[in-house]
Amino acid sequence: MKFELQHTDAKSSARAGEITTDHGKIETPIFMPVGTVGSVKGVHFRDLEDDVKAQIILGNTYHLYLRPGLDVLKAAGGLHKFNGWTKPMLTDSGGYQVFSLSDNRKLTEEGAMFRSHLDGSKHLFTPENVVDIQRVIGADIIMALDECPPGDAEYEYAKKSMALTHRWLKRGVDHFDNTEPLYGHSQTFFPIVQGAGYRDLRTQSAEFIASQNREGNAIGGLAVGEPTEVMYEMVELVNGILPKDKPRYLMGVGTPANLLENIALGVDMFDCVMPTRNGRNGMLFTSEGILNMRNEKWKNDFSPVDPNGTSFVDHHYTKAYLRHLYVSKEMLAAQIGSMHNLTFYLWLVREARKHIIEGDFAQWKDVMVKKLTTRL
Ligand code: GUN
Repeated sequence: MKFELQHTDAKSSARAGEITTDHGKIETPIFMPVGTVGSVKGVHFRDLEDDVKAQIILGNTYHLYLRPGLDVLKAAGGLHKFNGWTKPMLTDSGGYQVFSLSDNRKLTEEGAMFRSHLDGSKHLFTPENVVDIQRVIGADIIMALDECPPGDAEYEYAKKSMALTHRWLKRGVDHFDNTEPLYGHSQTFFPIVQGAGYRDLRTQSAEFIASQNREGNAIGGLAVGEPTEVMYEMVELVNGILPKDKPRYLMGVGTPANLLENIALGVDMFDCVMPTRNGRNGMLFTSEGILNMRNEKWKNDFSPVDPNGTSFVDHHYTKAYLRHLYVSKEMLAAQIGSMHNLTFYLWLVREARKHIIEGDFAQWKDVMVKKLTTRL
């Protein structure tokens, strides 16, 4: 993987760059649609490429390991061959998913024991075997095993958890450096900063993560219930420590406004289930604000879904028709909502990139954030 930093904004820490992988280039800042089980729910890859203009998608080790399982993925020749997505992919390590199974997991020095949400079977993720599993899945960017404590974690807990994440990281780095990719394309390994909402822990963690000297770095443990201001404070602090010449990936974030504020703080990569999950439920993000498509208000509104939108669904369907589909629980509603939101997220990061390069990002961001948070 290669990262070229192309522009840094004069009035903020926003950056425009380009990541090169063996499956192609990614222009940053970028949003990565979530494809947990190897599919971005309800969206064809053709539409994801042509309309959404996704440049990289994300998969989850936890889900793919449990189903279809490593035998199928290996026999297919990796996830790219299995699902037919030919562009870059990133997989999360499974740590975060395991930690959300709060009753069905146990942490030890060795790793994270958990029971499958599918059949109750017992499994152990270790810093080493999540590397092996991600070698079999074959994503271009793979993640270290970490523990993501809750947003309201007590100091002593957050400190112990961070220390464990750091010890796991050393093991993961060692194992990654002593193993090879399986399918002829290269893979890179990103470590994850933790430390909850505590400045001293975040500082220590960012320094430790930077010292591992990987090709990119991630920030985890945010957008997990802490106030938004704390998230921004932690991102600013951590980005002041992480190297400038490597991409910074903020995991699991966020709303369109969160994306722009964090881009201003120097984040280059994002993923979040929000555009697809909220899209399935009828919440649409647009450049003028947020629409609840189930609202009675749209019953007789025959204007396009989003006159400023860049997806075909924005112009092909009317608000009244889309509302009818949601109220009738038609699966097409979820598909249109997901397509619209993903296309909007990718448009938003392309616009951000354009304004960073043109030099008026900070002013544009302030105007956009006000609009993005308006309820229509
Ligand atoms: N996704 C969102 N937050 C996190 C995190 O802290 N760790 C991991 N591994 N994935 C995440």
